[in-house]
Amino acid sequence: MPDREPRPNICDYEGSDYRIRFWDGKGRDYEDRVERVALRRLLPARGRRLLEVGAGFGRLTDEYHAYEQVVLLDYSLSQLQYAQEHLGTDDRYVYVAADAYHLPFRPGVFDGATMIRVIHHISDAPSVLAQVRNVLVRDGVFILEHANKRNLKAMVRYAMKRQTWSPYSLEPVEFVELNFDFHPEYIRRSLVDVGFKLQKQLPVSLFRLDAVKRALPLDLLVGLDGLFQLTGLLYAPSVFMRTVATGPGPNNLEADSIFACPECGGDLVHEGETIYCPKDDLRWAIRDGIYDFKATIDS
Ligand SMILES: C[S@@+](CC[C@H](N)C(=O)[O-])C[C@H]1O[C@@H](n2cnc3c(N)ncnc32)[C@H](O)[C@@H]1O
Repeated sequence: MPDREPRPNICDYEGSDYRIRFWDGKGRDYEDRVERVALRRLLPARGRRLLEVGAGFGRLTDEYHAYEQVVLLDYSLSQLQYAQEHLGTDDRYVYVAADAYHLPFRPGVFDGATMIRVIHHISDAPSVLAQVRNVLVRDGVFILEHANKRNLKAMVRYAMKRQTWSPYSLEPVEFVELNFDFHPEYIRRSLVDVGFKLQKQLPVSLFRLDAVKRALPLDLLVGLDGLFQLTGLLYAPSVFMRTVATGPGPNNLEADSIFACPECGGDLVHEGETIYCPKDDLRWAIRDGIYDFKATIDS
């Protein structure tokens, strides 16, 4: 095994009941629906292959029907197993358990990527954004959602001195361990630094307050949110950005294999129900159709 740099901590959802605890019947239909409104506004009309970074249990994967293939990547094998149960095992979906800090793909194998409700768990956001840029072709579209530290509630709380951190300063704030809010300008600069050009930003989920959600009908709230998104005023708790990949880079969209060694970047070989890096002599399992790059297995 090659020597490894110390790695950032990962917010581990393995075995978590995220779907049941956070979404199913938990009064978050508003959040789910307005995120879909934003996504539909930002997604291209068609594409070849999309990478969904931190896909979780595939809550939003049905929005990506315009792509010929969707690769669901998540650190949690159990989230992917659930996604596979309801999305199925046909070739249109590829399931990959891996760390977004070390994507196991060749450069330029995707022309689309999304990352929704994930970067708030990432302590080194620029590293992961660089990984995403590397696996996209030039002009590939990347849709990123981030939790917004400069939201109305935080601004009011800060003005009333009920919050110590400033919503206006650019650095990320870690409000709970491995949970970060970001300033939109910090994210924009980080994206530009690694080779993305910002095309559009939408403020999403402005009415994410229990009292408001109880007082107003869901359809009305979704309609109002959809209108507010169009103002571009980035004071909602969530921001969706559409960016495109700029600069040079290979186009491997039609390559035989999308995978590369997450350690050395070299080509991998399929051998039975495993995938193998001859250069590093490392091997990973393919478990019931899920590529498991979380840990190597014995050769
Ligand atoms: C809040 S969930 C969001 C899931 C999905 N995108 C959604 O919106 O329903 C965050 C997901 O990010 C994944 N995640 C967190 N850190 C990760 C990392 N370093 N690499 C890959 N996935 C990661 C977690 O396993 C989890 O499934």
